[in-house]
Amino acid sequence: MNTRSFLSLLFLSLFNTNISAHFFPNISSIPPSFIPNTTAGDWASFNKLLGCHTGQKVDGVAKLKRYFQYFGYLNSSTNCTDDFDDVFESALRTYQLNFNLNATGELDGPTLKKLVSPRCGNADIINGTSSMNSGKGPSATPIHLSTVSHYTFFPGTPRWPASRTELSYGFSPDNQISDTVKNVFSGAFERWSEVTPLTFTETTSFYTADIKIGFFAGDHGDGEPFDGVLGTLAHAFSPPSGRLHLDDDENWVVDGNFIDAPSGTSAVDLESVAVHEIGHLLGLGHSSVEEAIMYPTISSGSRKTELANDDIVGIQVLYGANPNYNGTSTLTPAQRDTNGAHFLGPFWDLWFLISLGFVLFLL
Ligand SMILES: *[C@@H]1O[C@H](CO)[C@@H](O)[C@H](O)[C@H]1NC(C)=O
Ligand SMILES: *[C@@H]1O[C@H](CO)[C@@H](O)[C@H](O)[C@H]1NC(C)=O
Ligand SMILES: *[C@@H]1O[C@H](CO)[C@@H](O)[C@H](O)[C@H]1NC(C)=O
Ligand SMILES: *[C@@H]1O[C@H](CO)[C@@H](O)[C@H](O)[C@H]1NC(C)=O
Ligand SMILES: *[C@@H]1O[C@H](CO)[C@@H](O)[C@H](O)[C@H]1NC(C)=O
Ligand SMILES: *[C@@H]1O[C@H](CO)[C@@H](O)[C@H](O)[C@H]1NC(C)=O
Ligand SMILES: *[C@@H]1O[C@H](CO)[C@@H](O)[C@H](O)[C@H]1NC(C)=O
Repeated sequence: MNTRSFLSLLFLSLFNTNISAHFFPNISSIPPSFIPNTTAGDWASFNKLLGCHTGQKVDGVAKLKRYFQYFGYLNSSTNCTDDFDDVFESALRTYQLNFNLNATGELDGPTLKKLVSPRCGNADIINGTSSMNSGKGPSATPIHLSTVSHYTFFPGTPRWPASRTELSYGFSPDNQISDTVKNVFSGAFERWSEVTPLTFTETTSFYTADIKIGFFAGDHGDGEPFDGVLGTLAHAFSPPSGRLHLDDDENWVVDGNFIDAPSGTSAVDLESVAVHEIGHLLGLGHSSVEEAIMYPTISSGSRKTELANDDIVGIQVLYGANPNYNGTSTLTPAQRDTNGAHFLGPFWDLWFLISLGFVLFLL
């Protein structure tokens, strides 16, 4: 155990005595005091930036710049001031492209709505390289008009070695995870093993497990602190790290039933988030396809646990298909070669170079 992980465990044992307090069997068992009103939530303040555009200096832009920095849209040396400058506008357009919004470069309603949505803590752009829509050049078509796949990989396309098809997973002993919660994860792993040759087995020896699952609050020693209720929900590291961290401050709902959810409930479906994060553990990045599991955001009180065609094609490019998988993917191999997700190879063109100018300093 290195110093950082030791510190994070110490932090948990000192300050987080009620570690499993935030699992709820169903929506009606969440106490009203756990349901924040609409002014709560760290990102809600972005809503006051409606209509802002280049050339303005507005209180709150600095905070949005830090958000963009966190998710990879601005580089780490950006001076996060309240100036709505050209570099920020360019980052905003990239974000809009990735989320299938009109690339207006302005903070319009649909953009703000997306910005305040709870999301995965993994960045959309890693080391300046976007593989979501914005990394696909001028032919990036509106998703709903095309059958083009949009799954992505991490830089260098890391995956578990071909010799490792039987992976083990364990839960942090500090969390004292119940069997009901373990079953949710078992179901989430199954989504991926159904379509690939990979199998996942729970082990009680957390420290030797291939995949280590833990719930943490706030700063937990990996340089990616969680932020309390909503905001970022979870993050996972690329293969073969195997670390999957979930925000202990969320109201995690276990039974997946949101039909009677009161509006404004901040409740997150555990299985939906688990399926998404396992995708990262196996090597998938974020997808611009809204139906895909690997899309970065999920609304509070909603559920999405079925792999979309985009997810299945992506994971099968990395690991091949499960011999027992009898579904069909709608893309032919030739389509995959031309349209599938690739990190920027030698094929990107000048249009893209210009439009993402600020990012290129990093490449
Ligand atoms: C929700 O969970 C609580 C606690 O387990 C249980 O008493 C209640 O019947 C459940 N409600 C519904 C609607 O399932
Ligand atoms: C709503 O949340 C804010 C911020 O947490 C708090 O100051 C305010 O009192 C809350 N209002 C109600 C009606 O609970
Ligand atoms: C960042 O901006 C502030 C305020 O405009 C300025 O004083 C400071 O020198 C800038 N820092 C860098 C590194 O550009
Ligand atoms: C994009 O702009 C068009 C035309 O103004 C509008 O009809 C459409 O709703 C907008 N789409 C989004 C996602 O904002
Ligand atoms: C990003 O770049 C840094 C420095 O060049 C490197 O150490 C790191 O491994 C890169 N990260 C990824 C995910 O490629
Ligand atoms: C696919 O396999 C499942 C279970 O093995 C079976 O229930 C289903 O009927 C099969 N579907 C097709 C289209 O063959
Ligand atoms: C970060 O972006 C700024 C603005 O585009 C650029 O001037 C700077 O060189 C970049 N820094 C790095 C380390 O790439």
